[in-house]
Amino acid sequence: MTDRITAPRLQVLKDKGQKIACLTAYDEPTARLADRAGVDVVLVGDSVGSVMYGYSTTIPVELDDIERHTAAALVGCERALLVADLPFGSYQVSVSQAVESSIRLIKCGAGAVKLEGAYSEQIEAIVRAGIPVMGHVGMTPQSVNSFGGHRVQGRGDSGALVLAGALAVQEAGAFAVVLELVPAELAARITAELRIPTIGIGAGVGCDGQIQVFHDLMGISTQSFKHAKRYVEAGALMASGIAQYVEDVKSGEFPTSENSF
Ligand code: KIV
Repeated sequence: MTDRITAPRLQVLKDKGQKIACLTAYDEPTARLADRAGVDVVLVGDSVGSVMYGYSTTIPVELDDIERHTAAALVGCERALLVADLPFGSYQVSVSQAVESSIRLIKCGAGAVKLEGAYSEQIEAIVRAGIPVMGHVGMTPQSVNSFGGHRVQGRGDSGALVLAGALAVQEAGAFAVVLELVPAELAARITAELRIPTIGIGAGVGCDGQIQVFHDLMGISTQSFKHAKRYVEAGALMASGIAQYVEDVKSGEFPTSENSF
């Protein structure tokens, strides 16, 4: 049995100056690939809404969706810390709602939950219930309507707001904080000021770790993003495999006697 990474273990990585690699996964095969490749944190993100369901934002994602995908990802996740996202509307209403939603995700096998914004009271209460919380500041996609789009946050004077949010999340008891679409210099400053690990996405190399969406890195997403790198073109590879299959079926080349009984 492999030793599972825990929330406190990420602090040890930061303290030793070792980088933390995080990746999203929403199902068993993807979680297994990430886990076996040495990813430290597998996030069942609410990005599942855009990536798997084709929604234009993460706002329609429900707690039931995250529960289902967390249970599936857990099957493939032996070593990495499995973090489940609290979707929009599952924690903002009240502290008790936040704790109840978090308990549901932990019961599905998550080792921690993540929420967006400096919801200090909610974070404190969830932590008090024995559940590790990952914060998320900067560009928080659930607030896309307030931001007026997926824009870099913290440029110029507004950098102080992002820093204040990250500090509030830390003081409330979060074990780590995601910095999304934040200028690299600001993210490095926040990383130096915070005791807990910072996990960047579009926040430069100065963060303690990085998080990315699986489909963006694997070249499955149709869009390319500045904050991501397409390490392989798995989408193109799959498309050519499917086209070959269609051709073989139409021409009668598949199945052969080897595929028959
Ligand atoms: O939902 C998600 O995938 C996320 C990460 C991109 C940080 O929140």
